Amino acid sequence: MAKEKSIYLCTECGGTSAKWLGQCPSCEAWNTLVESVADATPKNRYATTTRGLIASQPVTTLSEIEASDVDRQPTGIDELDRVLGGGIVAGGVVLIGGDPGIGKSTLLLQALDSLSRGMKTLYVTGEESGAQVALRSRRLGLNGSQVRVLAEIQLEKISATLDQEQPAVCVIDSIQTVYSDQLSSAPGSVAQVRECAAQLTRIAKRSGTTIVLVGHVTKEGALAGPRVLEHIVDTVLYFEGDTHSSFRLVRAIKNRFGAVNEIGVFAMTEKGLKGVANPSAIFLSTHGDPVAGSCVLVTLEGTRPLLVEIQALVDSGGPSPRRLSVGIERDRLAMMLAVLHRHAGVSASDQDVFVNAVGGVRISEPAADLAVMLAIQSSLRGKALPRGFIAFGEVGLAGEVRPAPRGQERLKEAAKLGFSVAIVPKANAPKKPIEGLTIHAVDRIEQAIDVVRGL
Ligand code: TYD
Ligand code: MG
Repeated sequence: MAKEKSIYLCTECGGTSAKWLGQCPSCEAWNTLVESVADATPKNRYATTTRGLIASQPVTTLSEIEASDVDRQPTGIDELDRVLGGGIVAGGVVLIGGDPGIGKSTLLLQALDSLSRGMKTLYVTGEESGAQVALRSRRLGLNGSQVRVLAEIQLEKISATLDQEQPAVCVIDSIQTVYSDQLSSAPGSVAQVRECAAQLTRIAKRSGTTIVLVGHVTKEGALAGPRVLEHIVDTVLYFEGDTHSSFRLVRAIKNRFGAVNEIGVFAMTEKGLKGVANPSAIFLSTHGDPVAGSCVLVTLEGTRPLLVEIQALVDSGGPSPRRLSVGIERDRLAMMLAVLHRHAGVSASDQDVFVNAVGGVRISEPAADLAVMLAIQSSLRGKALPRGFIAFGEVGLAGEVRPAPRGQERLKEAAKLGFSVAIVPKANAPKKPIEGLTIHAVDRIEQAIDVVRGL
């Protein structure tokens, strides 16, 4: 096949240019041009495919369109089905990202093996040889697995195999290793990843094959290269967790076929990933006696409350003290330190402040604020919070403590796990007392600090 000419496509506005330029000639954005294939009929190429990924149809009134719910095929791995919104969808494209070694290949091999009992499956490996995949499957105890394996990185060959094999589900491990002959850039480059993902998505839509793309994440935690990928695919899942601990979370960032608020929780065992059906207590570390700088937070991930220990260490710093956080946004930490100082008179301005959410969970909900601030204050005072203490609540810049959604559920879960003292936003205070739990309802941060000083 003759090599087609490249054009450069702006990732912001979709404008094109015949050669690479630093600035897009159409929208004047900088560094947005990426290499792409120039098709003989460029209009057709994108008209029905990459943008909407569905064939064009006449204009219809919304109420007249038949709204049938999509059929979901459960993967047989409950925690994965939970994040997927029930299972995989024919023709759906799923992107699953995560750090190296976190368990992406392991989970997908397990899922494919389970699916292969009822349908045709194909595992395309670009990172490991067939023998390595086989070795892993034996280690996972998947003997006699019917999963078909192809070790290949060239898109055109993968595409031909898909046409030939017609699997119901295909995993591409990983999209960064795949390259198309049509582009001159190296595998893993933005242009290649984009083009290959778009082509594979087209195949999925056309053939009804569910395609799962494995993606690597960069040091910053974004999927390498293309945010554009997130727009092309139907579902984006992220693996998170500390590779040194055995627990892993799978979180949905986007799901065209379901809700995105669920997380799946797994434990890595020597037999692969096992679902954890009742995960609320797995992110607590086990201290014999309470220690200073530790505060347990009840966070709500999806429909299940999770108890997560927040640890803070405040230590005298140099001329420009450091603020570091793991699992909590650093900007948010800076804001909380300012609020603590301004409204509660707790100053850490000449101190290094380190904050960590135990177990490698990433907490994005603002309801973590109160627990983080109490952990910082506890470390600063060198005095532990009482045994069985929990807190949650968002803290605003004015020092007000705002309610967290579904406070009752959080408190009930904490009580069930034997926690006995709680500081919560006033609006989250339960009307009826919860057995075994003493609740202090506060509406300002200084009140919360006063309460812990008196405990
Ligand atoms: P892997 O699935 O290869 O990660 P990724 O594809 O995301 O890079 O995960 C490999 C890690 O998991 C590796 O460090 C070994 C560990 N592991 C187990 O602990 N138990 C197992 O049964 C398997 C297969 C892997
Ligand atoms: Mg892998």
